[in-house]
Amino acid sequence: MTTTAQRTYNPGKGVGEPVGIAILGHGTVGREVVRLMHEYSEDFTQRIGGPLELKGVAVSDKEKHRGTLAEDLLTDDAMSLIERDDVDLVVEVIGGIDYPRKLVLAALKAGKSVITANKALVAAHAAELSEAADAANVDLYFEAAVAAAIPVVGPLRRSLAGDQIESVSGIVNGTTNFILDAMDSTGANYDDMLAEATALGYAEADPTADVEGYDAASKAAILASLAFHTRVTADDVYCEGITNITSQDIEAAKKAGYTIKLLAICEKLTDAEGKKSISARVHPTLIPREHPLASVSKSFNAIFVEAEAAGRLMFYGNGAGGNPTASAVLGDIVGAARNKVHGGRAPGDSTYANLPIADFGEVPTRYHIDMEVIDRTGVLAEIASRFSAEGISLRTVRQEEAGENARLIVVTHTALESDLARTVSQLQESEIVKSVNSVIRLEGE
Ligand code: HSE
Repeated sequence: MTTTAQRTYNPGKGVGEPVGIAILGHGTVGREVVRLMHEYSEDFTQRIGGPLELKGVAVSDKEKHRGTLAEDLLTDDAMSLIERDDVDLVVEVIGGIDYPRKLVLAALKAGKSVITANKALVAAHAAELSEAADAANVDLYFEAAVAAAIPVVGPLRRSLAGDQIESVSGIVNGTTNFILDAMDSTGANYDDMLAEATALGYAEADPTADVEGYDAASKAAILASLAFHTRVTADDVYCEGITNITSQDIEAAKKAGYTIKLLAICEKLTDAEGKKSISARVHPTLIPREHPLASVSKSFNAIFVEAEAAGRLMFYGNGAGGNPTASAVLGDIVGAARNKVHGGRAPGDSTYANLPIADFGEVPTRYHIDMEVIDRTGVLAEIASRFSAEGISLRTVRQEEAGENARLIVVTHTALESDLARTVSQLQESEIVKSVNSVIRLEGE
């Protein structure tokens, strides 16, 4: 656990003193950070209290970047750059986990404040990084790790620090939102819309981390940690991507008044005995078309927070891209640089609540189940009895013709994951059910 009492006060370099900065990585984000730092250098000096001085940019292949930056700023020796005495802040915009982890730890140990945009790194190693920052009495900022330009880490860490957060749900992956939104508005299938997302530059050449939900799971871990003052890693997040979502699912959702979004859902749960726990999950989710998150189109992101005193808040904007990510990185640079000049340090991670992570089977939600069943007398009653045997109450049942069979679309009231999973597996084995085509969770009502 981190406590401010353990820290010694950092008196600061003094107003007017320069703040040396090293940037690790010169891709889309790194280049924008350098450009904006240069273009608005006078503003940065005023906002910080001293000039920001770029001391170097570390890249893996100098040849590739030749001509994009003054020759004496480029280096392929990241470690030596980090260790320079005139470097006060290190910005990590490389990506990956193992190599940046080594560099970030080295920077923190050397007394440099660190700004990282690396969600996978923070979601996997926040505890270790945070301890290293505490030990060295320096800042560790990562606003850009969640939803790029959208300020949500800062609000959770600072503005909402006096409130009790009940849930944080959001669309935190632009690629999948683009694909699902395009499927919803055109009726096209997943493969075609993934191809379009790739052609337009939204999806990476290897889209696995986005479409399988891993990228969103890292962000969910970071959001849940901040919201619930508890250490949550990406491994604690249940994760299901969008690759199985069909145009039939989208169509059925539409008919019933819903849209399908890949949501990261972080909630505080309270059981019958009043014991609290945390659930963090990422999966395709039906939400009512009038829900604020339903109107988030294209590759935009939005995060919906429910807190006891604040009520409902929504943060909306660009969740990816060089410029929006650079905006968040630069905001963190200003924060960390101010502390270097004026002294002090931002509050570190707060994990005092240390709530347990709920077993996924104990998570309550509603479900939209699409299945094909034999069309004969008594089948509907038999299916309803399978649900009621597991204590699951049905909210609506819709039947459509499906050749010689019937298509049944069942929406349940709130039920536990474990009860629903048992019911679905029994239905799949039953001779009256030809196939369970999809089971999609439903939220937001
Ligand atoms: N690939 C992510 C997205 C952005 O599509 O939103 C970086 O996390």
